[in-house]
Amino acid sequence: DKAGHKHFMAKEIAEQPTVIGQAIGNYIDHEGNITLPDPGLDFATLDRLTLVACGTAYYACLTAKYWFEQIARIPVDVDVASEFRYREPPIPARTTALFVSQSGETADTLAALRYCEGKADRIVCVVNVPESSIARESDLVLPIHAGVEVGVASTKAFTCQLVVLFLLALKAARDRGEMDGDALADHLSALRSMPSVLSTALEANAQMQKASLKLAEARDVLFLGRGLMYPLALEGALKLKEISYIHAEAYASGELKHGPIALIDKAVPVVVMAPRDNLFDKTVSNMQEVMARKGRVILISDRAGIEAAGEGAFATIELPSVPDALTPLLYAIPAQLLAYHTAVAKGTDVDQPRNLAKSVTVE
Ligand code: M6R
Repeated sequence: DKAGHKHFMAKEIAEQPTVIGQAIGNYIDHEGNITLPDPGLDFATLDRLTLVACGTAYYACLTAKYWFEQIARIPVDVDVASEFRYREPPIPARTTALFVSQSGETADTLAALRYCEGKADRIVCVVNVPESSIARESDLVLPIHAGVEVGVASTKAFTCQLVVLFLLALKAARDRGEMDGDALADHLSALRSMPSVLSTALEANAQMQKASLKLAEARDVLFLGRGLMYPLALEGALKLKEISYIHAEAYASGELKHGPIALIDKAVPVVVMAPRDNLFDKTVSNMQEVMARKGRVILISDRAGIEAAGEGAFATIELPSVPDALTPLLYAIPAQLLAYHTAVAKGTDVDQPRNLAKSVTVE
């Protein structure tokens, strides 16, 4: 049932304020403490986290690396499951291995998990399907409470994965004495306001639809972001190529001059994700290098960012302003909607894109 939407993907994008609210509610108790299902997890007793996943779930892990490192000061490795499983990496003592999967059935992720059995201290999973194989073989199962996701392009599962991973990073910071109770309360109150912030972001739909007309004409599209926006740029590029079949690539903005800038001309739209955070000026200077070569910039930022740097952009998409740590949840919306509207403009099969399966149970 598409609940009045043209596609499951549109429905699932629109559901995000509700489902992330549910995900948040399931992990915070009445006293404002972060609670995990049994047997729980004490981050004070681990030295390293290894995060493994595929596709969009991998980008959720990449985002979480920034959170765990910056907020909880835990060293983190992130890997795609298909590489991890065959590389046979050494697993140091006191490592917790964490697997993220919407379906819980992805063959490579499951194989990576089995590789860690008997090597990692603990095996934790973040899944949407608690009855799945990955969940059955984990010591601790953290459900994301996104509800059934039908669209092959993952949307609400991604933002719910981000919620659970962010809460884990906060808990880790508390467990390790890196954050006091007041700071935790501030983070949680900002997180609790995200459902309504995402609703506001969804209202910028018309701007995204308009910008997507430019994308629909393109053969190649570049996505740029720094820090927490780098994984979001990767996610935006993946969404676009999956459902619109347009070649899209993402780069960390700082890598631009190490190669991809050679691609820029007036035919290449460049989507720049740049909230006004501590890296904003750096990203903007990369964006100006693109404009100087006649690249068509679509700048996604908040009001302050657009006022400071929007001039000369081909299009701007204005989002609310949120604390830096929470920008990934918010910038997921344009990552998804730009792809969605581009695919609709091109007339491709949004919910069942060619060559793709919802759950990749063979390698
Ligand atoms: O079920 P999983 O989360 O393990 O699936 C992983 C990927 O196959 C999945 O995220 C894929 O990349 C999506 N089609 C992305 O939209």
